[in-house]
Amino acid sequence: MKAKKLAIVGATGAVGQEMLKVLEKRNFPYDELVLLASARSAGKKINFRGQEYTVQELKEDSFKGIDLALFSAGGSITKKFAPVAVESGTIVVDNSSAYRMDPEVPLVVPEINPQDAKKHKGILANPNCSTIIMLMAVYPIHKLYGIKRIVVSTYQAASGAGAAAMQELEDQAKAMLAGDQPPTEAFPFPLAFNVFSHNSSLYPDNGFNQEEVKMVKESHKILGTESIRISPTCIRVGTFRAHAESIHMELDREGDLDEVRKALSGFPGVQLKDDTEKNHFPMPLEVSGQDDVFVGRIRWDLGDEGHKNLQLFCVGDQLLKGAALNAVQIAEIL
Ligand code: A2P
Repeated sequence: MKAKKLAIVGATGAVGQEMLKVLEKRNFPYDELVLLASARSAGKKINFRGQEYTVQELKEDSFKGIDLALFSAGGSITKKFAPVAVESGTIVVDNSSAYRMDPEVPLVVPEINPQDAKKHKGILANPNCSTIIMLMAVYPIHKLYGIKRIVVSTYQAASGAGAAAMQELEDQAKAMLAGDQPPTEAFPFPLAFNVFSHNSSLYPDNGFNQEEVKMVKESHKILGTESIRISPTCIRVGTFRAHAESIHMELDREGDLDEVRKALSGFPGVQLKDDTEKNHFPMPLEVSGQDDVFVGRIRWDLGDEGHKNLQLFCVGDQLLKGAALNAVQIAEIL
């Protein structure tokens, strides 16, 4: 059998580093590994599976002989280098938003639409982190009853904005506790001890930001239907790497909470954390570093007439199921 050569584009970044851990944990099969990043990181040594790798600068000829490349270096790098990679015969799984809405590019959550992966023409896209985490909690219920409408509020960690943003959150916390001015470069405002509307730009015509519109459009593409109305509010909170979401769903028909719990706990990649007695529900601190999306606070809307309006709270690790893990799972399908 021909040796399989794998590349990570953005290997020094927050998601790239998690990709390496996920590949190791899942014993992903490959014969050779190439780590690519910007010129700034060229020559840097990374130890992985007992071997020392030297990071190489990403260039147009980096993809010669590479079978599969996992990209996580931002949209503009993907736009520039993914077509070059495909031209060299490399299959690309991309974590940026560059190709997600391209009709030729499958957008895949392996537990939900694995069949779409097979239709790829060289590039596959990993969905937005908030979209993946929401759909993991919503899809088992959609399969059970059908969903008319979703109202969702996110509580998003710093990791979605990369390694520099995570470092900035730590530096801000230290600075503020010391009574100093917090550094703000990665985000427009201090994130430590704070909450603010998602930093992606706003569409002036409807008042929604890019992150919120991604959640709507990507969910429709993954579920293969535009019939579900989705209304998100995306918020950044001062946590490091797990996103939380409060979700309200209007169902097509009346539901049953035991059935809902059964559907969620039986769904691969989802775990219930719904301890009403101890008031202990999913939390970023406990979910960080875990593969699964955790769901709790499962209840009917107080104003619900009949059981058609369901509410829940979920948390997923943004760097794992929201990015690196989902990308490696897509690669596993291939
Ligand atoms: P580098 O560390 O050399 O800057 P994050 O999302 O955590 O910010 O990580 C972004 C990743 O994308 C890093 O690995 C970063 O490499 C990489 N990257 C950024 N700009 C480029 C570029 N021009 N060419 C290749 N890789 C890049």
